[in-house]
Amino acid sequence: MIRGMELSAYLRTLVAGAEVKVPLDSGDYVPAINFDNAATTPPFNAVMARIANFAAWYSSIHRGKGYKSVLASDLYEEGRNVLAQFVNADKQRDHIIYTKNTTESINMLAYLLQQQDREQMILATEMEHLANDLPWREKFRVEYAAVDPDGRLSLADLENRLIKFRGKIKLVTVTGASNVVGYVNPVHDIARTAHKYGAKILVDAAQLVPHAAIDMKPCGSPEHLDYLVFSGHKMYAPFGMGVLVGPRELFDNTEPVYRGGGAVRLAGRDFIQWSEGPARDEAGTPNLMGVVAMITAIKTMQSIGLKVIHNYERYLLEYLWAGLESISHLRLYAQPVRKGQKEERVSLISFNMEDVHHNVLAEILSREAGIAVRSGMFCAHPYVQKLLQLSPEQLEYYRTTPNVPLPGMVRVSLGLYNNVQEIDALLDMLHKIVNNRPFFKHKYQHAALSAHP
Ligand code: ALA
Repeated sequence: MIRGMELSAYLRTLVAGAEVKVPLDSGDYVPAINFDNAATTPPFNAVMARIANFAAWYSSIHRGKGYKSVLASDLYEEGRNVLAQFVNADKQRDHIIYTKNTTESINMLAYLLQQQDREQMILATEMEHLANDLPWREKFRVEYAAVDPDGRLSLADLENRLIKFRGKIKLVTVTGASNVVGYVNPVHDIARTAHKYGAKILVDAAQLVPHAAIDMKPCGSPEHLDYLVFSGHKMYAPFGMGVLVGPRELFDNTEPVYRGGGAVRLAGRDFIQWSEGPARDEAGTPNLMGVVAMITAIKTMQSIGLKVIHNYERYLLEYLWAGLESISHLRLYAQPVRKGQKEERVSLISFNMEDVHHNVLAEILSREAGIAVRSGMFCAHPYVQKLLQLSPEQLEYYRTTPNVPLPGMVRVSLGLYNNVQEIDALLDMLHKIVNNRPFFKHKYQHAALSAHP
């Protein structure tokens, strides 16, 4: 077994670019510190090696009888087994559809569900990322389960809405973990509640799968997750791969969102006969390299052990929280993370420094210390607005006033390859900034308008 520092050093060898140097404002070069893993992670070296090795065998999927084509097609299909095992999906009952990313998976699902029942209501939550909010809005009536002032999902409110709209809400959609504050939702308890009122559940697991195991549980279980989506690029496997898992019954009885080769068994001038199986929802030349990357990343994570990853990141998170708490003039969002606490959290923290705009702080960290963080509203605008307690009047002001710096936060999100030394570098830099705010603000004041929300 690998322990302590040894584990940390080992994990660091697994990703590409961990020791790459980046330039500072001073012209010096320092090792890049990447604390923006919730946006996207660097690839595993194993993923890059597998892609390079597999290149010689790369070929078309389900479109040829050539040796390489058959081999590539088998691998492509085998990927579904790896994924099914990873999330404990039932391949007899579910299809595992390859998509581009989580956003595409949820948009596709919204289109398909709309075909099935236009009148149904969706119950989302106030915690969702825009990808699990906007696709529902334009097609369905959406209710939002409330969060408390600390941003935790209210399970009582969720159930009350299911009672209020009993029989009308057919889908509860919820993130597995918040990309803003890291809360982990009790998805199996929520599944139980949703099923009690005749609704299915979709879990957006994009922020969860890089950090912890997820189990869809058997179909007969009240805790079964009916739909699951996630992305490869947040779990060390870029190359544009996303996943949508759900009951065959839906995919087999709806028209595909994307139409073209691969999705069709036979088409005449005046008819289309769709393919059977997941191919129906995978029109166009499939993303084989995406599948290769994804299954290699899953195998790499499994060889480390999901529990080992989770525990190591928890250790880093507790260290980071304690360090940030010790710095004056910082406001940390969400309830504190404490050692020995039962509550699950994924490894990210959002905060603001008094009197320093979040975009300015992010730019200072990058240009003075080579530390990459994300700033803004993290594509979870309503949730961040709630945590910031923005009034409707303030929101209206931002909506109607161009060229003003928008509200937001700074987010530090950790990956399995980050370490305590990097966190110390961040804490040192934050101490330095907080003690020299006028100097840094003056130097970087232009940055307030510059980042993406
Ligand atoms: N979901 C991505 C993030 O949180 C965009 O950064």
